Amino acid sequence: MEQRILLAGNWKMHKGPKEALSFLGDLDKALELEKTITEAIVSKKIELALFPPFISIPTFCDFNHKMIKWGGQNAHWEEKGAFTGEVSIPMLLELGCSYVILGHSERRHIFGETDEMVSKKLTAALDHGLSPVLCVGETLDERNGGKALSVIRRQLLSALEGVDSTKAAQIVVAYEPVWAIGTGRTASDADAQEACNFVRGLFVERCGQNIASGIRVLYGGSVSPKNAAGLLRQPDIDGALIGGASLSVESYIGIIKEALSVL
Ligand code: 13P
Repeated sequence: MEQRILLAGNWKMHKGPKEALSFLGDLDKALELEKTITEAIVSKKIELALFPPFISIPTFCDFNHKMIKWGGQNAHWEEKGAFTGEVSIPMLLELGCSYVILGHSERRHIFGETDEMVSKKLTAALDHGLSPVLCVGETLDERNGGKALSVIRRQLLSALEGVDSTKAAQIVVAYEPVWAIGTGRTASDADAQEACNFVRGLFVERCGQNIASGIRVLYGGSVSPKNAAGLLRQPDIDGALIGGASLSVESYIGIIKEALSVL
């Protein structure tokens, strides 16, 4: 089966409900004019998913745009309980989420999330049938020290600890080198391909060839309309996790058009 290109926009801590509503209205107008994009979505060649802050997810749920999926940027592994400030996976499902981002480098490096916590979250998401977008990626020091692939290996295999191979098919992996996030410094097409190919190889080892070839591996880190086509043309890159460039309709649509050009 031909792989769908997933263009996922991680809004991070941007856009409350009002701004989210205005973005959705503008995106809807833009999609009305771009029939080639909507055709590609309907024929499942391209998939769009946006990840607003928790508080703006109800706006997506109410708007209920048929061309756009949405998800959470994080979730707790427990279903409920005394975990002040946390949101659970069943709560995200109640608001129509299709995905949840787990193990983003900002969660790992700013909020101290460990491999073990990411693994518990991944298992919980899969148990509830919510597709995780699992983020992995090395820091600049790790890359300069020649450790990029071993860091990816550790993060991925520890997240998959205890995960049943058949459930693993639902996982999307985002390779996001930390030094490329928000810096304007994208990984070269070849480096991004090498890392994404390595991720797929780990799935072959862990879950077998069939599952591994169906897993979508995204690249993230300063993706823009200028560099998207080169990255998306790589054989092991099935989409992008986009931060800053997903905050404006113009640049998000620009990236979608670049994706159409590589189909
Ligand atoms: P930027 O696209 O702003 O570099 O962010 C990437 C990212 O962290 C997406 O999750």
